[in-house]
Order: sequence, then structure tokens, then C-alpha cells
Amino acid sequence: MIDNEFEKTFIRTSNPNIFKAGTLFDNPEAFHELMMHYYCAIREVTTKLEVLNDELSLKSRHSPIEDIRSRVKSPESIAEKLHKKGLEPTTANIVRNLDDVAGIRVICSFVDDIFDIANMLASQDDITLIESKNYIKFPKDNGYRSLHLIVEIPIFLSGGKKPMKVEVQIRTIAMDFWASLEHQLKYKKNISNAEEISLELKKCADIISATDLRMQDIRNKLNNSN
Ligand code: GTP
Ligand code: MG
Repeated sequence: MIDNEFEKTFIRTSNPNIFKAGTLFDNPEAFHELMMHYYCAIREVTTKLEVLNDELSLKSRHSPIEDIRSRVKSPESIAEKLHKKGLEPTTANIVRNLDDVAGIRVICSFVDDIFDIANMLASQDDITLIESKNYIKFPKDNGYRSLHLIVEIPIFLSGGKKPMKVEVQIRTIAMDFWASLEHQLKYKKNISNAEEISLELKKCADIISATDLRMQDIRNKLNNSN
């Protein structure tokens, strides 16, 4: 349930989840405020990504980023994730134990763009890289590929600055296409031929990966011939 909701709420612009009642939590008012802070952090990181994309587009006449989507996790999903970890639904537990309340998905055309964008973002003064998972170099057994970063960014409030964690998933268009379909297998119940579908998906993941690399290679050749 958590991740179905996760997918559906990964949208292009505003985050309706921050307006949802946090009645499941110890202090609904503090919960709302915290969700607003996560939304601010999303906007901070999104702006950084857009700035990088604008600059690189101007310099190289190639936009490394195709799309940026984001979401704040819903109260229900947050409560469920805490429950699975054996934790009470409190705002303190959210801050301490969850890294993906604020989520951004960055879609790039080429594999090299993923690492360029990740390095440029992570090396900015006010960004702290908390964790990096390279599922491109080390794909999951099912074939899943993406680069996952957990970054910390300060948001500036009336009373001072506050560090917030944001999960940034960076992948190619092809990896994203694959993950959307694979996601359906993961969270659909009663699939009779699930094993066959898994195998087929794994094959597709490998073909997609090989194609991504060939596309990158062609682009490099085109760039070198300018
Ligand atoms: P959780 O945050 O509890 O999910 O565990 P984790 O931090 O070990 O997860 P990880 O960083 O590996 O992945 C977090 C997110 O990446 C998920 O919520 C999905 O959005 C995406 N993801 C990870 N693995 C898969 C996968 O096999 N298939 C698809 N479609 N998405 C995945
Ligand atoms: Mg995670």
C-alpha cells in the first residue's frame, strides 16, 4: 500500500499531501509543520536542479534533465512505515528514522548525465550527502537501476535554519519506464504468472541498460565529431 501511494503521488508540481490531516500522529499541528518543511526542502533541491539544468543547457545545447517530479509522503504511508519499523507515529520518530518523506525523481536522457547531475548537486556548499546507493553500477537482482541519494539541505525559517533530508532518485527515461512497469508487478496481488513476468522484466532491464550505454556511446561520438 505504501509504495502504490508513493508512485501515484510522484507528481510534477505541488504536493497535496502536505494539506492532509496528520491525525494519526501524536501532535497533528507539529506534523503539519514538519510536512511543510519537507515541502520547502523539495523546492530548494528542485531549484538547484533546475539551475544546473538551465546552465548546462545553455553551455552545451543539451538539457541533461528531462523531467523532475516530487512528492511528500502521505500521512498514512508515513504512519505505516513507522509501524513496520516498530515505531510510534510521532514527529520525532519521522525526523529520526525516515529518509524519504521528501522525494524527488530526476529523469535524464543519458547515463552520464545522471552522475554529472548527482556530483554537481552533492558538491554544493549547503548540501550534505548522507547516503548514495548506486543501483546502476550494482543493479538489484530484479534488474532495477537508478542512482539514489539522501541529501540534507537547510531551509531558512523565521527562527533560523533547519536541516532537512531529501531522497533524490536519478535515472534515465528508459530506467524510469522499466521501473513503472515493474512496480505494478511488485504491488499487484494474485498474479498467476508472476515468475514468468519477473524473468521477462529482468531481460528487458538488461536490454534497456545495454541500449542506454549504446545511446551514450553514440552521443559521445557525436560530441567528439563537432
Ligand atoms: P525503503 O526506503 O524502506 O524503501 O528502503 P531502502 O531505503 O532500502 O530503499 P531503496 O533506497 O533501495 O529504494 C527506495 C525507493 O526506490 C523505493 O521506494 C522505490 O521508489 C525505488 N525502488 C527501489 N527498488 C525498486 C525496485 O526494485 N523496483 C521499483 N520499481 N522501484 C524500486
Ligand atoms: Mg529509503
